Amino acid sequence: MIDLRLESVRRQSTRVRSGDLESLAALVDTSRAVLVCDPEVRRLHGAKLPPCPVIVVPRGEEGKSFASFASLAEGFAAEAVDRGWTVVAVGGGAVLDLAGFAAATWLRGVDAVFVPSTLLAMADASVGGKNGLDLGGRKNQVGAFHAPREVLLDLSLLDTLPDAEFASGMAEALKHGVIEGGAHFAFLEGLRNGRPSGAALEELVARSVACKARFVEADPFEELPSEAPLSRRVLNLGHTIGHAIESATGLPHGLAVAAGLASICRFQASHGELAARDAERIGRLLDTFGLPASVAEAAALAGIDDSPSFRTRVAAALSADKKRDGSGILAALPCALGTVRVGRVALAELSSFVMEAP
Ligand SMILES: NC(=O)c1ccc[n+]([C@@H]2O[C@H](COP(=O)([O-])OP(=O)(O)OC[C@H]3O[C@@H](n4cnc5c(N)ncnc54)[C@H](O)[C@@H]3O)[C@@H](O)[C@H]2O)c1
Repeated sequence: MIDLRLESVRRQSTRVRSGDLESLAALVDTSRAVLVCDPEVRRLHGAKLPPCPVIVVPRGEEGKSFASFASLAEGFAAEAVDRGWTVVAVGGGAVLDLAGFAAATWLRGVDAVFVPSTLLAMADASVGGKNGLDLGGRKNQVGAFHAPREVLLDLSLLDTLPDAEFASGMAEALKHGVIEGGAHFAFLEGLRNGRPSGAALEELVARSVACKARFVEADPFEELPSEAPLSRRVLNLGHTIGHAIESATGLPHGLAVAAGLASICRFQASHGELAARDAERIGRLLDTFGLPASVAEAAALAGIDDSPSFRTRVAAALSADKKRDGSGILAALPCALGTVRVGRVALAELSSFVMEAP
């Protein structure tokens, strides 16, 4: 009889720190590093990158395709990237997701260092070790957990970020504020305009990273039972309906998440599970940051007619959600500012809500 237990070590740790893009050279052995970025980031910030081979990948969700992954892997082969090398991704969440997946799988795993260049990537995507590729219009269907060794935050990179992309990042930051409630939410309410800068921006990013880190440290591989208060699934707040809106509209991720957050708040309020006052405060913040606060506003922003066939596409995308489980779907449900629970919602109920919701 064979009775053997293999103790596997899945430690993953990340250091997140502020620093100029120029200080990247001190964090990696530049003779054994390959840079991954999209053409826009290379055009805007390429001059500050260390002298390493650069592989340019397509911008946005197009980069998270199997075709991009294959050409990135071919680039690694051409540069003879071996297990002692570091993959350095400089870019938004899409570039980090692609490069992170490539680092997780190339030679069964090499080091990654991330330099997020969008607010969304600084406040959210660079932390936590999740990466992913899209498949047939479905988000993040293939992915791994592979935490970067270092995350370097250079807030000055955001100076070149267009307003719509900044707003997209604000949606994830607002999601963190709803999860934390209290002083965090009040801080967001105290921001004077939709595009904070200087110390306010630094505090915004620091608060988001701290919120995400709290859940990731407690539940690095999303294995805690969904009812656990620190289940990583709480971070999916706004994403169940948000991903469906993103698939149906092609809007930038954060803008779709904002509409998804507003919708799930309305859903909860309609069940008496979220006080109308809290839902209104969240709605006001979405307005302050110029974010869509309904499915209809998301459609308008994407220039799509808000017709029954559009709503049907959103509902169909909901059914394809990864967190679907038979006739139900696991969703992060806001119950109050600072209280989000993960619960199973009947898919039919959520779909009909999406068909009718504002
Ligand atoms: N892995 C995670 O934990 C996680 C979390 C949240 C979101 N995501 C993923 O992140 C992606 C969205 O992130 P995003 O919006 O940052 O992605 P992105 O990489 O698509 O960047 C958005 C756009 O901004 C441009 N850009 C990037 N940096 C710039 C700069 N400094 N100046 C000017 N333009 C710049 C890019 O060229 C691109 O056109 C989605 O695919 C989403 O699924 C992942």
